Amino acid sequence: MNVPKSVAIIMDGNGRWAKAKGMPRTYGHVQGAKVVEQICEDAYNLGIEYLTVYAFSTENWSRPSDEVEALMKLLRDYMKNCIKRASKNNMCVRVIGDKSRLDKDIQKSIADLEEATKDNTGLHFTIAINYGGRDEIRRAACKIAKKVKDGELKEEDITIESFEKELDTFGLKDPDLLIRTCGELRISNFLLWQCSYSEIYITDVAWPDFNKDELIKACEAYSNRTRKFGNVL
Ligand code: IPE
Ligand code: IPE
Ligand code: MG
Repeated sequence: MNVPKSVAIIMDGNGRWAKAKGMPRTYGHVQGAKVVEQICEDAYNLGIEYLTVYAFSTENWSRPSDEVEALMKLLRDYMKNCIKRASKNNMCVRVIGDKSRLDKDIQKSIADLEEATKDNTGLHFTIAINYGGRDEIRRAACKIAKKVKDGELKEEDITIESFEKELDTFGLKDPDLLIRTCGELRISNFLLWQCSYSEIYITDVAWPDFNKDELIKACEAYSNRTRKFGNVL
């Protein structure tokens, strides 16, 4: 099997999964968060080198405030525990998205986590929080505009490569494979620039039920694709 080196996942379906069990949506988020840790290990053991997951979108703020609060609490706990796990698994962890809107203590945990794991040589694990592809491109454009204004960059030097340097994902590998769980056929503002030529795999399995076998199925489907551009196999 030709395993994708870089995989991105839209972890969707926590709410529907919980509802089907007669439980509150937040129960689905709690279970979904537990799956992430295992998938990181499975991904690395399969030969995946970069894994990027969508945890909270710029649009997710418009959910009911109690759900947003529950998600922020989960993220807060996740960031704190992640340092230990990342050290054990040798993962290099990074957070993409506009962190400035997050509570200060979460920002601090993220900074500590990124600093503590930056030299780890295992899986490059990236978590998208308050992330939106359009917002990321907008922020990059602002940085470019400032550089041009300050005379640090000439207009003719704005290339694909120089633009990419200003994206949150700079230094990471564009996804070879984009997985979305729970059946929706859309990108929902995730990695718009980076997924230009990613292969897309959508499964009906909800995120809390996603496991190693499902990941292998996605990789097998990928392995049977004929790619264009991107990382042509
Ligand atoms: C994905 O599950 C988790 C987040 C977006 C934070 P959802 O909460 O979107 O669950 P569904 O799609 O409503 O089932
Ligand atoms: C995408 O899922 C965002 C995350 C997984 C964090 P959503 O459930 O928020 O996306 P839509 O609303 O179905 O497009
Ligand atoms: Mg959803």
